[in-house]
Amino acid sequence: MIDLKDFITKDNRSKEAANSHFAKYFDALNRDTKKHSEEVKRISEGIADRLGLDKKTAGIIGLVHDIGKVYVAPLILEKDARLSPLERQIVDQHSYYGYVILKECGFSAEIYIPVLFHHSLFKTHLDSIAEPVTEEMITYTRIVHVADIYEARSSFRAYHKPVADDVIYEDLTRNDFLSTPDVLSALKEWVSKERGEEKQAI
Ligand SMILES: [Fe+2]
Ligand SMILES: [Fe+2]
Repeated sequence: MIDLKDFITKDNRSKEAANSHFAKYFDALNRDTKKHSEEVKRISEGIADRLGLDKKTAGIIGLVHDIGKVYVAPLILEKDARLSPLERQIVDQHSYYGYVILKECGFSAEIYIPVLFHHSLFKTHLDSIAEPVTEEMITYTRIVHVADIYEARSSFRAYHKPVADDVIYEDLTRNDFLSTPDVLSALKEWVSKERGEEKQAI
């Protein structure tokens, strides 16, 4: 069973209950989202490690970042073609659902705030929530965002083939307001290490 108790802020007995409650949500995710989440966890850990941040925190955020997809209809989530603008709007709500689920399960703000903002972060968003948002939470948001984009675009999807690393990096440099040079270069380092290990294994 998934064990994230260290990041649940309730007292000891209810931490157990909260963790098993959360595990039910995680089990309900579809297979592709689970696989994607495991990969985003690994990449987020690699980036955080290179930036001198807590690897475990980044990994947990990566693992749970798409938990809100349990509330998106499979008909839309598993569609093997590009989504229509309306379908996209529906899918985009998963960040908010994730925030609600994680809060309900007693997770700490250092986990649920980056989940809430992992696709978009504007000043109006920061003003619309009651919790204080620290610089560290924003950095974890950037990490999970970059890890998420890299994983989604570099993998095979029903509607696209894997995109080359250089193209992803270019987009993350020019067209992405959540990506920053330090996070991006940590991602690049992680990817080249991975590629090196893949080559050695062949
Ligand atoms: Fe997401
Ligand atoms: Fe994702």
